[in-house]
Amino acid sequence: MKKSSITIAGGGSTFTPGIVLMLLDNLEKFPIEAITFFDNDEERQKTIAGACRIILNEKAPDIQFTETTDPEAAFSNTDFVMAHIRSGKYAMREKDEKIPLKYGVVGQETCGPGGIAYGMRSIGDVLELVDFMEKYSPNAWFLNYSNPAAIVAEATRKLRPNSNILNICDMPIGIEELMASAIGLESRKEMEVDYYGLNHFGWWTGIRDEEGNDLLPRIREHVANFGYVTEDQSLQHADESWNNTFAKAKDVQALDPATLPNTYLKYYFYPDYEVSHSNPEVTRANEVMEGRETFIFGECRKIIENNTAAYSELHIDEHASYIVDLARAIAYNTKERMLLIVENNGVISNFDPTAMVEVPCIVGSKGPEPLVQGEIPRFQKGLMEQQAAVEKLVVESWHEQSYQKLWQALTLSRIVPSAQVAKNILEDLQEVNKDYWPELH
Ligand code: NAD
Ligand code: G6P
Ligand code: MN
Repeated sequence: MKKSSITIAGGGSTFTPGIVLMLLDNLEKFPIEAITFFDNDEERQKTIAGACRIILNEKAPDIQFTETTDPEAAFSNTDFVMAHIRSGKYAMREKDEKIPLKYGVVGQETCGPGGIAYGMRSIGDVLELVDFMEKYSPNAWFLNYSNPAAIVAEATRKLRPNSNILNICDMPIGIEELMASAIGLESRKEMEVDYYGLNHFGWWTGIRDEEGNDLLPRIREHVANFGYVTEDQSLQHADESWNNTFAKAKDVQALDPATLPNTYLKYYFYPDYEVSHSNPEVTRANEVMEGRETFIFGECRKIIENNTAAYSELHIDEHASYIVDLARAIAYNTKERMLLIVENNGVISNFDPTAMVEVPCIVGSKGPEPLVQGEIPRFQKGLMEQQAAVEKLVVESWHEQSYQKLWQALTLSRIVPSAQVAKNILEDLQEVNKDYWPELH
């Protein structure tokens, strides 16, 4: 098997050590020649890379490891760029969440005004990484899971139509693990699913076991009673806010009991509930900084001080193995069936052909072949038309430096109650994003 060289963009990410451990656990399926970390924050990357270098030395000394902030060094001779950058880091995520809440509007990383603000920061940064890859390794593939993936995907479709880019999200995978556990299966891999929607905005319409038996009714019944909460303690999320989200899926599913919803729909269906259960002083960004970020950086420092990972509590990000499945599908033409964010182009027959939709695809060495999902019902279609228009307006606003289009995007988001509230939020977001957004006219 040919060995692959990998560039991890966002080397300083809290997810990087878990992904490195996951790659090491999958070397038989996906052999690796070299791993290169790239980040634009040298200090932040240093801690994560220092620890990962020790882990790699102990577990797979043959893999060549490099950390760099130099694009040429990072993107030359690479086969896959795995991109998980966070433009503006947690400091800006905190603002994305807290500014809308000041106006009584949901403050969330990828949904509503927070996601729109984050999108305006991410588009340029992700396109820059794509351009580095095109310049130094034109045959490589760009696997993007940087958020907000819906907006980033639309930007790559519109502005880099000929690049090898795959946009993917792990939320359906996480939910499928909970579904599998709810009905007593060992793994989500025992299920084949039909799904359609936008990223963080979709529905399962079919779930079958390996023999083709319909599993949907049993899972629907579980969700109608418990949401995605299951008895398996090992699947319990460490953070209470995520467990609340899994429980709330019960109310989300009530809107269309025939299907199973993505958990992110709660922000669109129950924004009043979300706001009344939020603390404008302490949001998810604070929880992540105090929790995951503190833990990961603490463990990495410990590894560096001890000069061994022997006493480390870092764990494999098991569900990130979809990234290996995706890279393997491209490298070895495995024809894996996976949910990806791709141009609709008739897959949903009664929906905008140019919208970026999340649907099952067969992935081989030429990329994804999306599977037709047919016509969708009026309820979902109406919601998706509105949300896809928001996402397209954000990309157009960024591209044309249009204030007007960004105001329209915010006004169109179903989370925002009026054009006036949209404008108030926009003014505040624009002020704090001066260093990140294009100048708007
Ligand atoms: P993080 O802040 O810990 O890590 C992001 C890293 O990106 C930082 O080290 C930062 O310095 C770096 N960075 C920022 N801008 C950059 C640029 N222009 N070039 C190079 N590096 C840059 O964040 P995190 O919580 O670990 O999340 C990382 C990203 O992964 C986020 O976008 C997050 O939303 C995304 N994510 C997506 C999914 C998905 O389902 N699609 C799942 C998990 C995480
Ligand atoms: C899920 C989503 C990602 C998102 C993450 C947020 O995995 O699919 O898109 O980035 O959750 O998690 P966090 O723990 O940072 O709030
Ligand atoms: Mn996601």
